[in-house]
This record gives sequence, structure tokens and C-alpha cells, in this order.
Amino acid sequence: MIRMNENYLKLQASYLFSEIAKRVNAYQEKNPDQKIIRLGIGDVTRALPATCIEAFHKAVDEMAQDATFRGYGPEQGYAFLREKIAESDFRSRGADISADEVFISDGAKCDTGNFQELFALDTRIAVPDPVYPVYVDTNVMAGRTAAWKEGRYEGLVYLESTDANDYIPTLPKEKVDVIYLCFPNNPTGRTVTKDQLRPWVDYAREHRALILYDAAYVAFIRDDSLPQSIYEIAGAQEVAVEFRSFSKTAGFTGTRCAYTVIPRRCQVYDSQGSPHSLHALWDRRQSTKFNGVSYPIQRAAEAVFSPAGQRQVRELSDYYLANAALIREALGKLGFKCVGGDHAPYVWVKANMDSWKFFDLLLQKAGVVCTPGGGFGRCGEGYIRFSAFNSQANIELALQRVSAALRSL
Ligand code: MLT
Repeated sequence: MIRMNENYLKLQASYLFSEIAKRVNAYQEKNPDQKIIRLGIGDVTRALPATCIEAFHKAVDEMAQDATFRGYGPEQGYAFLREKIAESDFRSRGADISADEVFISDGAKCDTGNFQELFALDTRIAVPDPVYPVYVDTNVMAGRTAAWKEGRYEGLVYLESTDANDYIPTLPKEKVDVIYLCFPNNPTGRTVTKDQLRPWVDYAREHRALILYDAAYVAFIRDDSLPQSIYEIAGAQEVAVEFRSFSKTAGFTGTRCAYTVIPRRCQVYDSQGSPHSLHALWDRRQSTKFNGVSYPIQRAAEAVFSPAGQRQVRELSDYYLANAALIREALGKLGFKCVGGDHAPYVWVKANMDSWKFFDLLLQKAGVVCTPGGGFGRCGEGYIRFSAFNSQANIELALQRVSAALRSL
């Protein structure tokens, strides 16, 4: 008899964004003429930058000739891309990261989800609340939690990010071994300062813990004094792994390219307390389970770092940030308290009612899809998240419809 991994029975019925898609499809079937505007999942809508497309085409042409064809690439990624990342995203900001500490992958979702494989089952995990559900669900699947109870999994430490602490969680009171952090934050859109980040690095150093730092939305930061990487904080190279993505930075959600940085100085410990290289562990894992991102896609990603590429990706994030400003303004005028949207493509709105009810209301009355905050955890209940990833015309239309629907209540 083939037996299942019973940890899957602890999971909530479906992944948040699959549940939303199900509800939206059911509504669309019943209302085939309604033009639904999707401001739910953070999926980009604008074309890839011209420079990336040009590099992509050129690389595809190389694959058409025996002389330039490439088969399996290095599992860690091509050196041409790893070098550019280390130089442009880290060393140019004073963060001492070398190319061989960068692992290219097909997504930050996969990397943040897979990374927990490297840790013992009794590792004490802390996650923010509200939280990107991947961090939680993958630890549930692995068996690091007990049952779901009152909106939380027993066995996880939840770091509350609410109005009361301006959406920046405070350090755990108990000892934890792994801390997931995400800035600019998904879902709240909140950013962190260097002074606010430093105590986390100090905590991890003191407790021999590890920070998994998700910086997938870094391209939206507009204040240069804010940290773009956790490695801008002294000592972070010893205790932090950073996840980045080309998805939101350069429109690669459908193309797939991301990377994870694991400094060679980062260590994990065996049951005897002896240190081991985290870099070596991930390298071992990737070379066994992953065969790299395709050559043309890595060339397209490399083009992001050319001067034209940098200009074009900046235009992309400016465009979405302008949408976010429209969302904040309109919701603010309707009397809702909003955060985020200034250095992030998400606006976090205090809905003052059950978040799935608010989601259904906007879908039924306005044909607009948002993400219910409850899907991100107990502290997300009573909130909704708007994504700014759409055309300006659709954002304006969505906001008109939302305003009309809410005013008519
Ligand atoms: C989101 O909407 O939270 C993101 O698109 C999810 C993701 O990047 O996987």
C-alpha cells in the first residue's frame, strides 16, 4: 500500500492564489460578459524590456547552430550572469558578495520553498504574520508543524506585523533557529531601514540562527538610504541567505529567472554542534535536483544589467509604482487606511471587515479581484491587498468601479 505524506493533510484546502483563481473562474462562468480586472496575484502585465528580448532572440539563434549550441549548463548558473549580479546588485552597494556565492534558479518561490530541506526537522522556525504562504506551507509539508488551530500552525513562531508595530515585527522572545523576513514586504508593502534590520542580524549571530531574507521586490525601493540587500548590514554574510528574482524587477514571471545568495561564511550545525558550509549543502542539493535555467533566459536576464536594461527596468517599476500611488490615493479618499505602495507594488488596505467577505464584495459588485489578507495569516484578517501590476487604464477603471460599489453600500 502506498502511503501518503500525512503532513499534507494539515494544509489548508488549497494554495491561496489557487483558491482565488477558483472563485474568480466560478464568478466569470456565471457572468461571462463581465470584464474582470485582476489586482490579486502579483503577476506583471507589461512586456519584457526590449534589451532582454534582443538578448533572448540572439541566444535562441545561437542554439540553432551546432557551433554555438549549448546543452546542460552549470546547475549554479552561467558565470556571465553570476558575475553581473554580484557586481551590480551587491558590490556596487558595498556588500561583499562574490559571483560563486550566487545560485541562479527558476524562481524565488521555488528557492524559498525548497531551502527548508537543508534544515533538521526540529528546527524552530519563525515567520512573519501576515506572511507569503510559501514559507509556511513548505514547512508544514516537511513535517515541522503540528495541526492548524485558530488560524495558525502549532509549532511555528509567528512574528506579528500589525498597525501596532507599524508592520515591522519585533524580535522573537523565544529562541528560534530560522527567521523568514521579506522586505519590501509581501503582502504589506512595508519597507525596513538599516537600523530596523540590524537587530535581526545581531540576534541571528548571537543565537547561531539563520535569516532567510526575501528581497524579491527590491526594484521598487526609491529611497536610497533604505537597504536593498541584507548584506548592507555588517555581519549578515555569516547569518543570512538572500532571495532575489527577475520576475517583478524585469517582468520575468512567465520567463522564470531568479537567484539565491549564500555567502561562503554562512554555517549550519550538526547535532554535535560542528559547523558545516550552507553553501556546500545548497550546492549539493541543486546539483542533484536541478539542471539550471535555460541559456537564452540567462542571457535575457544578463541584459538587465546593461545601461539600456537598467533604464528599461526602472521604467517598468516606475510604471507600477505610479499605479500603486493611484490605488493608495483612491482608497485613502474612500476613508481606508493604507500602507505600502511607495516602495513596493502592493497596497495593504484596512478593510474593516472579514477579508474574504470584502474580496467577494469587490468581485461581485465591481468585478475587481484583490487578495484577502486572511489568506496571508491571522494578522492579515480584516485587510486586503491590491497589486499594482496591471495597465494604468485597468487600474483607473478598477478604482472607479470600487469607489462606485463601496459608495452604493
Ligand atoms: C503574490 O502575489 O504574492 C506573488 O505573485 C506570489 C509569487 O510571487 O509567487
